[in-house]
Parts: sequence; C-alpha cells; structure tokens
Amino acid sequence: MDASQSNAPKSATLTIGDESWELPILNGTIGPDVIDIAKLYAQTGKFTYDPGFTSTASCESQITYIDGDEGILLYRGYPIEQLAESDFLETCYLLLYGELPTAAQKADFDYRVTRHTMVHEQMSRFFHGFRRDAHPMSVLVASVGALSAFYHDSTDISDPQQRMIASIRMIAKIPTLAAMAYKYSIGQPFVYPKNDLDYASNFLRMCFSVPCEEYKVNPILSRAIDRIFILHADHEQNASTSTVRLAGSSGANPFACIAAGIACLWGPAHGGANEAALKMLGEIGSVDRIPEFINRAKDKNDPFRLMGFGHRVYKNYDPRAKIMQRTCHEVLGELGIKDDPLLDIAVELERIALQDEYFVERKLYPNIDFYSGITLRALGFPTSMFTVLFALARTVGWIGQWKEMIEDPSQRIGRPRQLYTGATQRDYVPIARRK
Ligand code: SDX
Repeated sequence: MDASQSNAPKSATLTIGDESWELPILNGTIGPDVIDIAKLYAQTGKFTYDPGFTSTASCESQITYIDGDEGILLYRGYPIEQLAESDFLETCYLLLYGELPTAAQKADFDYRVTRHTMVHEQMSRFFHGFRRDAHPMSVLVASVGALSAFYHDSTDISDPQQRMIASIRMIAKIPTLAAMAYKYSIGQPFVYPKNDLDYASNFLRMCFSVPCEEYKVNPILSRAIDRIFILHADHEQNASTSTVRLAGSSGANPFACIAAGIACLWGPAHGGANEAALKMLGEIGSVDRIPEFINRAKDKNDPFRLMGFGHRVYKNYDPRAKIMQRTCHEVLGELGIKDDPLLDIAVELERIALQDEYFVERKLYPNIDFYSGITLRALGFPTSMFTVLFALARTVGWIGQWKEMIEDPSQRIGRPRQLYTGATQRDYVPIARRK
C-alpha cells in the first residue's frame, strides 16, 4: 500500500508563534513524500533554507529513482543490475520514451541515432583553435555549446519534433565529439563514425583506429564500455542534471543546456572524481601507504578526501560500483593484465576503509568513480578522458531530464531565493569624502 491510500497525514502543520499553516504533503509512487512549500513565502513571508539541497526536491520526475539506504537504482522502474545486461541504446530509448522498445522500435531508434553520428564538417575546424594540451573536457564543453551554431532546426524547444531531433542529435554526436577531443589531444586525425558499427564499437574505433591500418573492435571491450555507459546514463537530480534543468528552465537551447551540464560534471566532487580517484591511487603508490592516506582523509585540517568514496544519496554501496568492479576484472582479464598495482591498492583501500569507524559511521562507501578509472585506463584512455566518458554517457540522462522538464506544464524558470546577511541599506559617499 502506498502512502496515498494509507491514513498517512495529507498535510504538515507549520506553527510560527501563534500562527499555523497547513502545507500539503504530496506522495510519490515510491520514496519519500514531499511537503509542498510553493506557497510558503506568500503565506508566511519566510523562505526555507537548504544550501546543498540535502532535503529539497527540486522537481517531479518519472525517470530515475535512487534508494540511498538500500543501494537501489532504477531507470524507469528497471533495476540497474538488470539493465546493465542490455545495451546502451536500449537504455537511451527507455530513458527518453519511458518504456522498453519492441524489436522494431529498437531497430528504428538505432537507425535514427546511427545516422546522426556525423558532425558538421566545420566543427573539425572549431577544434583547431585549441592548444593540443587543452583538457578534453574544456574542448567538449565548447564543442557541445557550439552545436547551437550549427543545428538551428532543432533549437525551437516549443516544437516536440525539434525537441526529439535535438535529443537524438545529442545522443548521436556526443561520442563523435568526445572521440574528436581525444584525437585532437594526441595529434592524430579525426576518425569518422561507421554506420555498420554499434554505438560502443563506433566510439572505440573513433578513438583508437588510425588511417594506416584496419581497426578490429574487441567485442569484450566494446561490451564493457557499453555497460559503463549504461551505469552512468542517469542519476536523478545530481548537480549536473540540476544544472541542465536550471539552464533549460530559462528556455535556453538544448545544446547550451548540455554544455552547462558538462561544465558542472567536470568538478572533482562530481564527475571529475573518476580522474581524481585514479590520480589518488597513483599518489598512494603502494598498499603500505594506505594507512597514511586514510588518516589524511579523516583529518579535518587536511583537504584530502578519498576520491571515489562517499555520496550525497547512497548511504550504502553504490550499486553501480559493484557492477563497475566486476567489469573492471572482466576488462583486465580480457587484456591479460594480471596484477595491476593500482587495482591492488584500490581493493585493499576499500577493504580497510569499509572496516574503519570513521567511514562506517558516516556511511561512506565506494561510488561509481572508485573502479571506473582503473577500467578506463586499462581500455586505453588517459585520465584526462575519464570525465569525458562520464559526460558522454550522462548526455542521455541530461537530455531526457531536460525534455521531461520542458514538457511539464507546471514548468517555470528556476529562481531560488537566499538568506541575506550582507550590509543593510546605506548612502553612497563620493570618493573625495571617504576617509
Ligand atoms: C558522483 O549526485 C550524484 O548522484 C552524483 C553521481 C552521479 O551519478 O551523478 O553519483 C556521481 O558525483 C559520485 C560522487 C563522486 N565524488 C567523489 O567521489 C568525491 C569524494 N566524495 C566526497 O567529496 C563526498 O562524499 C561527496 C561530494 C560525494 C558527497 O558530499 P556530501 O554529501 O556533501 O557529504 P559531506 O561532504 O557533507 O560529508 C559528510 C561527512 C563529512 O565528515 P563530517 O564533517 O561529518 O565529520 O563525510 C565526510 C565529510 O568530511 N566525507 C569524506 C568523504 N566523503 C565525505 N571523508 C573522506 N573521504 C570522502 N570521500
């Protein structure tokens, strides 16, 4: 029985001094109820205050659900553990349309995405303005934003057709742009997509093939990267998705909104953690130095944190991290990498941290970024490309959440308020009279 049928209270009473107000309680299908405070300011002249949004629902959504205590992640109701065995474009279809596709729908979707994987030829000139050592994330932010300058026929967000074509274009072109950013950073020529390859194989070929020889896709590795994309596809209202929604709420075009999401994801507290986690494992350097770094992570005066550990929502093991760990072993096995010293450090670090009181009482567990770096490095990607791959996969989540917001009839521009603690009103003093 869900809360809406039980005798759960339908409202919350707020009492300030000798006044009281009834605030409606809204029920979801699963997960916490919400207290509707939309009229709070009009009724009480007060705001709520929740800087990190730890207790704030910013929107209603039907796309992804996380139970942080139980370590559950559902895309449109399907557990991530089950979807991890499907293919990424099927997950894209599910996130966009809300249902799993029939065979015919899947074939049509694959066809549509495949035939939008090329980018306008002028885009290749756009890249050449960057230094070769530019971080690929800076190139990706810029090139995705630049798509607005090329695809005017999918920027009218009031047109459902244009919203869908923009979504398809974003999903289709993000691997091409990501691969171009990588090729540019290593001074190799761009590789065009091939329509007879699946999404993940196409991406690996655009990254690792060279004109001088045929590139043979390893099916185990393309399966692994496809699964990694599925794991990263969406994750409720995380920082970058919230950024995309806020940018989209002003009516900005979808490409600009996705560029904003990429910029936010870059931070080491968010999508940049996979790059930071691998660097951290390298800095630790050996298993016997782990205690030193565990102590640093616990020291309030030391800004060091265990990258790839902890999560705002998961207070249990991130279900994606378990699948990522399994994928990591699969990839290392396929590549014949027997003893990766960084993997040994990661496994020992996880073992020690999960027994340590500091991490246990704060419910800090490995998150998706803890094992992804080792896997991506084994696949041949430099650390600077790790967050690019996260952004590639998350693009479907961003564009799906953007589309859901635009199609929500109650959607308005997002405009939070504040607790002001600055100077009270005072008069201007001309500089000649200032002491
Ligand atoms: C992602 O939101 C999403 O869904 C994100 C994501 C997605 O798919 O979109 O899941 C992807 O961003 C995963 C998280 C990747 N980031 C990292 O791995 C960076 C390391 N983790 C931390 O920075 C931190 O855990 C956060 C940012 C992930 C969560 O921060 P919160 O929720 O604000 O938690 P907090 O900083 O308030 O920490 C609570 C306590 C603090 O100690 P006390 O002040 O209570 O004594 O836990 C400690 C923190 O110091 N803590 C850590 C820690 N993470 C939290 N201590 C050491 N190492 C850590 N990693």
